[in-house]
Amino acid sequence: SAAEKGGYEHFMLKEILEQPKAVRDTISPRIQNGEVVLDGVELDADYLHGLDKIYVIACGSSYHVGVAAKYILEKLLRKPVEVALASEFRYCDPIVSSRTLALVISQSGETIDTLAALREARRRGARVLSVVNVVGSTIARESDEVLYTWAGPEIAVATTKAYSTQLALVDLIALYAARQMGTIPDAEYAAAVAALEGLPELLERVLEQREQIQYLASLYFNHPSVFFIGRNLDYAVGLEGSLKLKEISYLHSEAYAAGELKHGTISLIENGTLVVALAGYAPLFEKTMSNVVEVKSRGADVLGLTMEGFEKPMSEAVNHTLAVPAAHPMLLPSLEVVPMQLFAYYVALMHGCDIDKPRNLAKSVTVE
Ligand code: G6P
Repeated sequence: SAAEKGGYEHFMLKEILEQPKAVRDTISPRIQNGEVVLDGVELDADYLHGLDKIYVIACGSSYHVGVAAKYILEKLLRKPVEVALASEFRYCDPIVSSRTLALVISQSGETIDTLAALREARRRGARVLSVVNVVGSTIARESDEVLYTWAGPEIAVATTKAYSTQLALVDLIALYAARQMGTIPDAEYAAAVAALEGLPELLERVLEQREQIQYLASLYFNHPSVFFIGRNLDYAVGLEGSLKLKEISYLHSEAYAAGELKHGTISLIENGTLVVALAGYAPLFEKTMSNVVEVKSRGADVLGLTMEGFEKPMSEAVNHTLAVPAAHPMLLPSLEVVPMQLFAYYVALMHGCDIDKPRNLAKSVTVE
């Protein structure tokens, strides 16, 4: 009913707008006097230094959080992080030992492939720390330790607030572990923790761009094919932006690491192709913009997304520019995903799609 949807037409929009609260509920109990505390979970320095790798295991959008997690964790911890699709992990004779930390990410806590991968990882000696939204779910119960995302019930099949809270928990885990290991200077740690505490306010600001994004969706919703390009954390967000768009609007869309375009996909760029260029990651802004110039010269229409401070150089190269507030680089995916969710939502709305229940998709996949 409309009441259940908080007066909104769809659960998806309601849940997009709930993200500042969901993220606040996930973060704020875990920052005390400027220190990250992970409920009862303790990962001490010796244990962390002794790890041979961290294996992030998940499906769907939770896997996309894993892709972002690899960039975030490797940068802070200087430990190898491997991201695996749960359905692949099970069948690749994975290299896992007691010196492997498996980070299992799941909204529902019931995804069968993720659960089976968790069991396999434990069988091979890994310690399993899971990031789960549904309290008491099977994945939560079978993990060595669980950290809950406090997104609340998510009804729309296309995940939004669960994804955002998973990312926030990854940030907390990364900062906690870096602090334990001594791989982050005190001042940088303090700055990152403070930045993370400010994330809900920044998300509110991104949501204020709702009407502008609806307008852009009205310009671009009829493009038959969409490519999302970006590098580093922007690439991770591109994967999720592309999935959101295709799963609810049924438009063909792909995500590419921007530098990989020239190895094939650029042949598919022609007049009228829409390219969503994500270039909020400052160190690689110029690199991604050089790929934007390439697709533009082949006739693509380009919707650019960057961070405040880069709008001017971006707008000289693209058709339209969106910018998220300037923030700590770790927060980039958390901020950039929101315009991507809104864009997908409004494109699907303009196509008259059944947004909360896309055809052939299930909220939780409990059969293999
Ligand atoms: C399904 C959902 C996706 C979700 C994936 C993993 O495919 O439609 O939105 O990302 O399962 O679900 P999980 O509950 O394990 O995060």
